[in-house]
Amino acid sequence: MCGIIGILGEEPAAPLLIEGLKRLEYRGYDSAGVATVVNGAIDRRRAEGRIARLEARLAEAPLPGTIGIGHTRWATHGKPNETNAHPHATERVAIVHNGIIENFRSLRQELEALGHRFSTETDSEVIAHLITRYLDEQQSPRQAAASALARLDGAFALAIIFAGEHDLMIGARRGSPLAVGYGRGEMFIGSDAMALAPWTDRICYLEEGDRVEVTRAGATVFDGEGHPAEREIRQTVQSGALIGKAGYRHFMLKEIYEQPSVIGDTLRSYVNPVTRAIWLPAMPLSLAEVGRITAVACGTAYYAAMVAKYWFERLARIPVDVDVASEFRYREAPLPEGGVALFISQSGETADTLAAMRYAKEQGQTTIAVVNVPESSIAREADVVLPTLAGPEIGVASTKAYTTQLTVLACLAIATARLRGTIDQRRQAELITALTEVPARAVEVLTHDDVIHRLAHDVAEARDVLYLGRGANFPTAMEGALKLKEISYIHAEGYAAGEMKHGPIALIDETVPVIVIAPSDGVVFDKTVSNVQEVMARGGKVIFLSDRDGIEAFGPGASATIALPKVDPLVAPILYAIPVQILAYHTAIFKGTDVDQPRNLAKSVTVE
Ligand code: G6P
Repeated sequence: MCGIIGILGEEPAAPLLIEGLKRLEYRGYDSAGVATVVNGAIDRRRAEGRIARLEARLAEAPLPGTIGIGHTRWATHGKPNETNAHPHATERVAIVHNGIIENFRSLRQELEALGHRFSTETDSEVIAHLITRYLDEQQSPRQAAASALARLDGAFALAIIFAGEHDLMIGARRGSPLAVGYGRGEMFIGSDAMALAPWTDRICYLEEGDRVEVTRAGATVFDGEGHPAEREIRQTVQSGALIGKAGYRHFMLKEIYEQPSVIGDTLRSYVNPVTRAIWLPAMPLSLAEVGRITAVACGTAYYAAMVAKYWFERLARIPVDVDVASEFRYREAPLPEGGVALFISQSGETADTLAAMRYAKEQGQTTIAVVNVPESSIAREADVVLPTLAGPEIGVASTKAYTTQLTVLACLAIATARLRGTIDQRRQAELITALTEVPARAVEVLTHDDVIHRLAHDVAEARDVLYLGRGANFPTAMEGALKLKEISYIHAEGYAAGEMKHGPIALIDETVPVIVIAPSDGVVFDKTVSNVQEVMARGGKVIFLSDRDGIEAFGPGASATIALPKVDPLVAPILYAIPVQILAYHTAIFKGTDVDQPRNLAKSVTVE
């Protein structure tokens, strides 16, 4: 949330800052700005809205200077207008900030009493004034930054430049991620390695509490106690190539269509094609002996955790507690000795998920992370990393990350079940066969795009939409509703089909589309069908997603049916996620919203 970048280079920094910011735009796009040091003075350009607007402003009024910082904002405190846009600056210092300064009110009062005049509603501006105060007290820039950092409560990643200093930038990390990039005679700071990838693949990730002093000659890192610290410089795997839409109208559509191939890539790294057994990395405990799993995540990844609960409980007979990270981290949940805690995250940077993982570690749990970004904080801190091979996901609404998360979790559940002896060799082989067929089945699902496109026309007229599912597809219903809300701004709810009569049924009339996710998988299917009859009896417009057997068994009455391939119930949540993604996508197109960058959202949520 909020992307920051800093460059100490040889050429004008502003165009490079813009290039880096574009690669960080997934972190927020409310406003953007850059600041440089020009002839010893701080100068800056800022603009409300997307980075393209800042770029246009720079074209009108170019900003020279070879040292600079940039920011793309996801607003926390203060409206997303130009005044509140970063960098925040005084005559002596400019800063960009990702995070929240919790004690900003008391600091602001203190500084106002000393004569500082504030011009924004943000928490971040206080950092610039606090550093200025220490500079005014004759501290050096390095000292002033350290003094100010020591007074901040909350979470931050920061980049700071100073008037009169053409070869000094200070960075700091507490809570939010920050990377330092090493070029040839040039140095960089950025929220992630992807932002810096056009210029360098040599990256050092700051650790919690670190401060870094960067000059063109290199970087010196200090730990939270102020002692010089060694931090490894790694070779990043991030590509410097700009990720394109490959001819698709939106990143989201491209990512929906990439699912057959990225699920295949993910499966290839977990399933041995010869023995048809599942390969897992070495673990510091035996999965056969795990008594309980705690699964924690946010947003779409949370729904992946919910699906995993059904799989682990059904297949491996292990009880699973599932929680959203923001609740889990403050609940002080007692965790069992020898327990496993599972964290699922596309970005690997979600602040609540990271904090929840640290809590679980403190409680002696073995932490397993299912992550898409291998160099992320969560990946670096987890005991065991199970990567998803989705590739960069740019659309803010998660699609391919979700289905690859499910793919990895299915592999983990099957392997655990086999180790515990709760499924036999034959069942394992069946399940793995079903999984390895998912890419081909996903291709079939995508052929329904046109039909779903036509249905979306009506859904776009609705004020409320209900999604119903049962069992492992109850989370699919939740995910379908989330996708629709995120990108079309239509109110939607995902409900367990059997729970609908305890409330949401009151919403049903002929204006409310009801999307039913109901693969024909035995008892649960029959129960869902009964619940859908209750909807139709009240005039609800049912869109019924099932396979041919299910549609036949359901009989007439639905406004529309979509016949998906008949698959093993294990893999249905992976495949049924795809039509609900496509429905949300086309509905959003009819509504004319910004599909890839929906309002108020950001892809990497590094504030709690
Ligand atoms: C944000 C994104 C969602 C994502 C969630 C968790 O809300 O918009 O798409 O599911 O964060 O993100 P993570 O990176 O931890 O999976």
